[in-house]
Amino acid sequence: MNLSENITEHGKIDKIMKNHSWEESELISILHEIENLYDYLPAWALRHISEKLNIPLIQVYGVASFYNAFHLTQHGKYIIRVCEGTACHVKGGHRVMEEFERKLNIEAGETTKDLDFTLERVNCLGCCALGPMVMVDDKYYGQMSPAKLGSLIKQLKKTRIDHK
Ligand code: FES
Repeated sequence: MNLSENITEHGKIDKIMKNHSWEESELISILHEIENLYDYLPAWALRHISEKLNIPLIQVYGVASFYNAFHLTQHGKYIIRVCEGTACHVKGGHRVMEEFERKLNIEAGETTKDLDFTLERVNCLGCCALGPMVMVDDKYYGQMSPAKLGSLIKQLKKTRIDHK
């Protein structure tokens, strides 16, 4: 980020904090707005909040890393969540995860280099009877198997141009 970009981006964060009266108690709402703005919480933004609101940086990171809604690294256009909760695991959820890792050439918690996909492991998506469950953004896919992943990834790649 060059100096003028830096000033502009810091200005955006300042505006968000100003809308929340520069209040420490508004930290979660401020983080939500920044997540909406950048799709993740950049480290420089967290440092800026810490300085401006006079909150220790470790505390800002503590809140940012506690909630699943926040991301500390840039994530892909699609977030693929594979359930490895007990019910899904016994039905083969771990094999679905292994196949995603193999096909996307990343491990759980990582993002593909082209920023198309982020792969995450979750413990339950709340529809255990339909397991193994996969969620892509807010869409559920039940009874998944390694054999179904190729067409799912292909379909997502085809529609990614209009996505977000
Ligand atoms: S364990 Fe997978 S949806 Fe509940």
